[in-house]
Amino acid sequence: MSNLEGGIVEDLDYSYFQRRIYTLTGIDLKNYKSEQMHRRLSALMARCNAKNFVEFCKLLEKDQKMMQTFKDYFTINVSEFFRDENKFRQLQEDILPLLLKRGQRLDIWSAGCSYGAEPYSVAIILDQITPLTRHTILGTDIDTTILDKAAKADSYTTTDIRSVPAETRTKYFTQTGDKFKLTDRIRSRVVFKQHNLLRDPIQGLYDMILCRNVVIYFTDEAKDTLYHHFWEHLKPGGVLFVGGTEVLNTFKNSGFQTITTSFYRKVA
Ligand SMILES: C[S@@+](CC[C@H](N)C(=O)[O-])C[C@H]1O[C@@H](n2cnc3c(N)ncnc32)[C@H](O)[C@@H]1O
Repeated sequence: MSNLEGGIVEDLDYSYFQRRIYTLTGIDLKNYKSEQMHRRLSALMARCNAKNFVEFCKLLEKDQKMMQTFKDYFTINVSEFFRDENKFRQLQEDILPLLLKRGQRLDIWSAGCSYGAEPYSVAIILDQITPLTRHTILGTDIDTTILDKAAKADSYTTTDIRSVPAETRTKYFTQTGDKFKLTDRIRSRVVFKQHNLLRDPIQGLYDMILCRNVVIYFTDEAKDTLYHHFWEHLKPGGVLFVGGTEVLNTFKNSGFQTITTSFYRKVA
């Protein structure tokens, strides 16, 4: 087979793989950077001796454990409370007070929230600065297993809470063995729901949307579409909080204004 024929066969194989994976899992591989995706999938294929995408797909359909490993490639769940401490300080000192000037009860969405450390960090800060107010905080993720862990909030590790200031740690966590449980007061402040950012419609209007360390493998087109949806679902003057290395520079005429690195305001 010539190189050209080989390439065409591989493309057809990959198209078949994309379609099957979408049907089986709801994951649309077209939204992920194809070079990185091919590199990562080749490594996984080599591990299970699959010679091409069709063979790999059949294997995933047969082997639930391998399917879970495959899904785990899209759901890198690394997180921690007050991840990127400086940003959380800015959130506490500048951004939330700014939002609270516009309305007393805030609607907040943490998109791609993993095991809950991110929305719970916001809940802790809000409890400290507005103890009598019940804000609405939604945490969503594509991964239902991780959302179960988020809702339980009872098995955080020392690493998960290493950036939590000592006083806050004492007030909001109890330790059993080497695990930390969040107090029910904060646990009850966040509602969790499964949601695929690349497929499912978005509901509601928010004062702040956090989407941090989630879009790393998304194509620029997928990111632009997502940021546009976020823009549509922010209230005027609402804030989008993104990860430290994420910028909105591909989102032309965005309607967002930079407040400072990682924080963008929807122009009213
Ligand atoms: C690295 S964690 C980031 C957690 C948290 N935002 C933080 O910065 O600490 C990325 C999370 O995004 C979720 N995720 C990946 N693709 C997603 C998608 N299409 N829709 C919703 N969540 C997704 C993963 O399941 C994972 O829990």
